[in-house]
Amino acid sequence: MDAFILGIESSCDDTSAAVLCNHRLLSNVIAGQEVHAQYGGVVPELASRAHQQNIVPVVDAALKKAGIGAKDLNAVAFTRGPGLLGSLLVGVSFAKSFAYSLHLPLVEVDHLHGHILSHFIFREGCEQPHFPFLCLLVSGGHTQIVKVSSPSEMQVVGSTIDDAAGEAFDKAAKILGYPYPGGPVIDRLAQTGNPHAFTFSEAHVPGYDYSFSGLKTSFLYFMRDRLKDNPHFAEENAADLCASFQYAVCHSLMSKVIKAARDLKISEVAIAGGVSANSGLQQSLREAGEKYHWTIHIPTLSFSTDNAAMIAIAGYYKYLKGEFSDYNVVPYTRSEMR
Ligand code: KG4
Ligand code: ZN
Repeated sequence: MDAFILGIESSCDDTSAAVLCNHRLLSNVIAGQEVHAQYGGVVPELASRAHQQNIVPVVDAALKKAGIGAKDLNAVAFTRGPGLLGSLLVGVSFAKSFAYSLHLPLVEVDHLHGHILSHFIFREGCEQPHFPFLCLLVSGGHTQIVKVSSPSEMQVVGSTIDDAAGEAFDKAAKILGYPYPGGPVIDRLAQTGNPHAFTFSEAHVPGYDYSFSGLKTSFLYFMRDRLKDNPHFAEENAADLCASFQYAVCHSLMSKVIKAARDLKISEVAIAGGVSANSGLQQSLREAGEKYHWTIHIPTLSFSTDNAAMIAIAGYYKYLKGEFSDYNVVPYTRSEMR
């Protein structure tokens, strides 16, 4: 029998609702929040207020677009964490009330599981990953290499000891004077630049862990010194600076994935999370895939950054196993993935 799942995502600054019928996506509505760009980062208080404004119209639009009524749903899946507390509370409270009023099962989803499981949403011509596979999860808040053995068994084999990759992109963009989120701006400018024009020192962390704070500092000092000699250095070298910084981040990310894949003898590798939209990272994964004979999985843009479709698919797997939440469930702000 078909299962219609409503997914709700509100962990950061995107309010999103999606409807899935089994693996097939019927709608995925996202309301972004422009208000944060002028502050150079997400302002938690403003984010939760915007979620309050957006949540009802977004869910309504997702149901209409899917062409179903609320009574046709089989379960309500929502992001329980990690994320900003005020933002999560809006989605969690809405999901509870909505499920309660319709007597529907409530399914809590971990945001990071959602990013990883987004690869299982049906896409014409795309094969789903086979277990076990490695997933490089790279977002604004997290950078992890995860061994995925099933939709519910995930083991973190490496993670950042300080900044996340997306954070590194956003901070470098801020140094260059670009608005938040700066990752997509750097990606766009990098396309016409030389990745070897400048060299920024990459961290040497043991095992499969990452560190990006040194790279950020190296970029900051480099810019400070160059701007002393030439106040127009950033504008005049924008493409080369972006390409070189992006190269350093992607090179660092891929070197640990290659090591983990070799050591764990896994030849299927996926990327997920906002930074998986980066064209340099996608290119590096394709090249590594060819070189090491991996099967690779790259999400479409709408599934890489935050969205509720990924919450709905992760919820679908839990729904099939009958893993439902109580109505006293509360959000968690820090990652529970180990
Ligand atoms: O997964 P996501 O939407 O939200 C979190 O869960 O954090 O990721 C957002 C992050 C931001 O840091 C943003 O700058 C980065 O993903 N990002 C990119 C690109 N698109 C989004 N970074 C580099 N290149 C991109 N094309
Ligand atoms: Zn995310």
